[in-house]
Amino acid sequence: MTETFTLAHFTDVHLSPITGFTPHYWNPKRMLGLFNWHTKRRGVHKRAAADRLIADAKNLRADHIAITGDLINLGLPQEYEAARDWLTTVGPAERVTVIPGNHDIYSSLHGDMGIGRWADYMGGDADTHAFPFVRRIGPLALIGLNSAVETPPFVAAGRLGPDQIEVTRDLLERLGDEGLIRVVLIHHPPLAGLAPPRRALKDASVFQRMLEKNGADLVLYGHNHKQQLTWLNTINGPLPVVGGGSASGARYYRDDPLARYNLFTFFKSGDRLRVRLAVRGMETPGGPIVKLSESVLEPVQ
Ligand SMILES: [Fe+2]
Ligand SMILES: [Fe+2]
Repeated sequence: MTETFTLAHFTDVHLSPITGFTPHYWNPKRMLGLFNWHTKRRGVHKRAAADRLIADAKNLRADHIAITGDLINLGLPQEYEAARDWLTTVGPAERVTVIPGNHDIYSSLHGDMGIGRWADYMGGDADTHAFPFVRRIGPLALIGLNSAVETPPFVAAGRLGPDQIEVTRDLLERLGDEGLIRVVLIHHPPLAGLAPPRRALKDASVFQRMLEKNGADLVLYGHNHKQQLTWLNTINGPLPVVGGGSASGARYYRDDPLARYNLFTFFKSGDRLRVRLAVRGMETPGGPIVKLSESVLEPVQ
């Protein structure tokens, strides 16, 4: 790696409006989800805010954009279509990588292809949408996981399953041998204790042990709508595990931050890979997009 490379991490865009809620797709989960959307989130998540952040990342010439799920809300065919149209405004598939969140694999689709519409932004295979997928982007290997599973109402938990974890383990080993910077993308917080049980990754402890044994260079997630950084001790040394706030929060909601994204710069210092994280977003509702913080990631001693 002779030059720096930048990766912009967006998550939890929750695009609106919600359209296509026909009787065919009515069920208790979607009804409750729609009620929740109208009473709480509709006034919070604004596409215009996400678009301003995307424009900011493009102005800064981010080499690639990764979006870690929850692009939509109720998993309706028209929402997938609208998100597909939105993705084309974010960039071509070779510049943008997407993984699904729990709001993207939400409830019965009666045979609709759902996230298959985003296939070229994921692994590229609309039929299998097999996870994990790998995309080699410059010096990076982006490993895209799917932690989303359909759940009952009021449950936003996720699960990877043993197959995905095993394949990820093999990929981490192989891609590490190739000398690539291994960036793992997952929607749910990937470590035990980062989310309450109702919203947590069920097999987080298994996944965490696999990461500890095999190492990676960076793990990115969403779901919590919070800025978070946790260090995991692995065989290759400390691994930064970074959660991002929603990219579309146009006003304050609970204790969530306003719309933001993480801009990572990978560079070499001597022989060592270093990662600089600049958090960019709104400081005030409707305010300009500014640098909220910047630091080279270092484990706390
Ligand atoms: Fe979300
Ligand atoms: Fe989520």
